[in-house]
Amino acid sequence: MVNIAVLVSGGGTNLQAILDAQARGEIKNGRVAAVISSNDTAYALERAKNAGIPGYTIKKKDYPSGEAYCKALAEFLQEKDIGLVVLAGFMTVLDAYFCHVFENRIINVHPSLIPSFCGDGFYGLHVHEAALEKGVKVSGATVHFVNAVTDGGPIIAQKAVAVEPGDTPESLQKRIMAQAEHILLPRVVSLFCEGKLSVSDSGIVSIAE
Ligand code: GAR
Repeated sequence: MVNIAVLVSGGGTNLQAILDAQARGEIKNGRVAAVISSNDTAYALERAKNAGIPGYTIKKKDYPSGEAYCKALAEFLQEKDIGLVVLAGFMTVLDAYFCHVFENRIINVHPSLIPSFCGDGFYGLHVHEAALEKGVKVSGATVHFVNAVTDGGPIIAQKAVAVEPGDTPESLQKRIMAQAEHILLPRVVSLFCEGKLSVSDSGIVSIAE
């Protein structure tokens, strides 16, 4: 059984999608063991509490450097025997050391079709603002393994979502969450826990049937 830690910073609808899938028995061979927030006020912590899952706040600003923070976070997760780290709207960048310790065991959900609208500065609503400014007719979501390059790790799954006339960043975000993120993320979490994902030397992900 894989112990899963979900790292959050905000509303936590992606966390909720994982918890709902778990309650339906759809996370095979894994269970959410901890929810870690980057701040005290994230509603995601309420969601963890409601599901009876331990929630913790670990703030970057409580550490002398980003390096010290990432080391402490890695140690905390290792002590809890975490086998999969899920970034679900987690807005703090993790350093190369952390990515190395959990190599191919960290996954992130990003609200665009990578390699579009990703990298430094592309997070949350900013991603959808950029997509609408560019006038793309299709956007979507990507779940990928995390490495030291922001949004640059091996792609596991993607789902396209149509941009509708009159969309605002908020309406596009909502549709992409409902039609892509909340479906893809729990599915990928389960595939990981079932041992069905593998990454080639060139960074291509294969999914076993
Ligand atoms: C989601 O749309 C997620 O893809 C995005 O933040 C939102 C969090 O929502 N993440 C990023 O932009 C990371 N680059 P949630 O807290 O309701 O899950």
